[in-house]
Amino acid sequence: MSRTAALSLCSFLLCSLWIGTQWGSTSKARGEEEGGQQLRYPPNKIAIIGAGIGGTSAAFFLRQKFGRDVQIDIFERGEVGGRLATVNLEGLEYEAGGSIIHPLNLHMKNFVKDLGLSVCQSQTSLTGIYNGEEFVFEESEWFIINIIKLIWKYGFNFLRMYMWVEDIMDKFMRIYRYQSFEYSFSTVESLLHAIGGNDFTHKINCTIDEIMQRAGFSQKFIHEIVTPAMRVNYGQNAKINGFVGAVSLAGTDSGLWAVEGGNKRVCSGLLYSSKAQFILGTVFSIEEKTRPRRTGSTLKLFEVSYQTASGTLSNLYDIIVIATPLDNGMSGINFLNFNPPIETFHKHYQHIVSTFIHGCINASFFGWQEPPAFSLSGILTTENSKLFVNSIGAVSPVKVEGNGTVEQAASHRIWKVFSPKSLTEEQLRLLFVSYDSVSERKWLAYPQYNPPEKCPPIILHDRMYYINAIERAASAMEMSAIAAKNVALLAHHHWYGKVDRIDQEDLHEKLKSEL
Ligand SMILES: Cc1cc2nc3c(=O)[nH]c(=O)nc-3n(C[C@H](O)[C@H](O)[C@H](O)COP(=O)(O)OP(=O)(O)OC[C@H]3O[C@@H](n4cnc5c(N)ncnc54)[C@H](O)[C@@H]3O)c2cc1C
Ligand SMILES: *[C@@H]1O[C@H](CO)[C@@H](O)[C@H](O)[C@H]1NC(C)=O
Ligand SMILES: *[C@@H]1O[C@H](CO)[C@@H](O)[C@H](O)[C@H]1NC(C)=O
Ligand SMILES: *[C@@H]1O[C@H](CO)[C@@H](O)[C@H](O)[C@H]1NC(C)=O
Repeated sequence: MSRTAALSLCSFLLCSLWIGTQWGSTSKARGEEEGGQQLRYPPNKIAIIGAGIGGTSAAFFLRQKFGRDVQIDIFERGEVGGRLATVNLEGLEYEAGGSIIHPLNLHMKNFVKDLGLSVCQSQTSLTGIYNGEEFVFEESEWFIINIIKLIWKYGFNFLRMYMWVEDIMDKFMRIYRYQSFEYSFSTVESLLHAIGGNDFTHKINCTIDEIMQRAGFSQKFIHEIVTPAMRVNYGQNAKINGFVGAVSLAGTDSGLWAVEGGNKRVCSGLLYSSKAQFILGTVFSIEEKTRPRRTGSTLKLFEVSYQTASGTLSNLYDIIVIATPLDNGMSGINFLNFNPPIETFHKHYQHIVSTFIHGCINASFFGWQEPPAFSLSGILTTENSKLFVNSIGAVSPVKVEGNGTVEQAASHRIWKVFSPKSLTEEQLRLLFVSYDSVSERKWLAYPQYNPPEKCPPIILHDRMYYINAIERAASAMEMSAIAAKNVALLAHHHWYGKVDRIDQEDLHEKLKSEL
């Protein structure tokens, strides 16, 4: 689905503008502690739990904020990257978790630039939308034919959707400006409110379906276009909250990209450049400890206990950053001796299976009359209980060897299938006329959204922060990076008593005059 050239150009200009403002003001950070009320000693040690994009970008931003002397330890029980991971099929790697990045995701963009990584543009593919019986929409190679078809079927809903998403993106972009001026937020709601006012806080309390119907979009359009986008991006339908719904629709824009060699390389790059100490181990408890000081006062520290291959260990920290979902014991961390106790969260995460298949798709399964003419390389689906897949798309490896693109006969490609459950052999034989290799990866992928959403706190306790609270509004790489920068700023402001940069109202107006 490609948007008009004019809109892309517009986003591009907007984007250069914002990068400009962001670069202009990063050098302010150093040495401003003197301005704060409380001139304090710096923290000794900070712990981050989780080395996904949230944890590793937190390490990067914490290093920026707190300087080179603080020790930053980052704990990981699995692999660096977390939900950014690749699978191997026939000797090549494919993106199995978070795969596409929006051109206006500025933190991701800057990471890639700072780390000297390269990007791959996502290839344009011809997409069809299948409803379980037939294709309700098929993209053509001809731009003008697509436009005519879309207007014929959906009137101006498409154009209006792009304008609607554009408007939300414009507001969303404000966060970068706030963060470049060091403003931080103590709750997800106040962050949303600062960028988009009541309209944004309201968005997490309504479904994308309700919001778009109220905005005048047709039910047919929501069913045939919006729902398939929710299914491919979040494995759910149009009952997800309006904010994550809008994030998902932005994923139909053009100019989407990924990191060459795999998105997880951003995580290992950030880990390296932040000079954080990586600890391979599973954190099983965090306990608040009180220690007497020489002066007679007391010092509060956190004891992190973790299991490694060589046994159980524990360390003391001044500040803790949790960078993994805590819901339903997913991370297995027990909070001991906290007063008041740390709340428990019970959001379910969506089971999603990504399966990679080298094979020849069975066009007649999709009701295609003349299989040789099957030209689609992406199949999205509407909601239909008899469908066992959410989407199917031809994919390229994260790194192309040699100097050319990989030769793939249209009929015999690598396909990535998203489904709620593992595909059975019988299902594979329905989807493919023939296939060679299959590789699957199971995920607890993102929250199951059902508005109204009540976001968990970002501040779990004095000096203990929770990055993944933001996932309740929307889960995406850039959201984790934004939340990580917010937490780094918040931790810094709390530590040095700079309350004037926390939860400020009317920032948009306030910053209008600043350059
Ligand atoms: C299939 C799929 C497709 C997606 N597609 C996209 C996409 O196209 N674009 C996009 O922007 N986003 C996408 N996402 C979402 C995106 O991947 C996530 O929002 C993001 O990667 C979350 O990063 P995180 O660092 O917050 O969490 P995670 O990546 O989950 O990192 C948490 C880390 O903490 C570790 N951990 C947990 N508990 C402990 C413990 N007790 N001790 C030590 N370590 C622990 C885990 O092993 C993990 O590595 C997708 C996700 C999935 C699953
Ligand atoms: C959204 O819903 C939550 C939980 O039901 C409620 O606490 C909050 O006030 C609501 N916010 C808005 C803006 O409606
Ligand atoms: C292809 O799909 C058709 C229609 O669902 C099915 O009858 C057939 O068994 C499938 N497999 C092959 C190899 O054609
Ligand atoms: C590289 O490109 C040249 C010319 O386009 C081609 O002849 C050669 O086979 C390519 N090499 C590889 C490894 O793809």
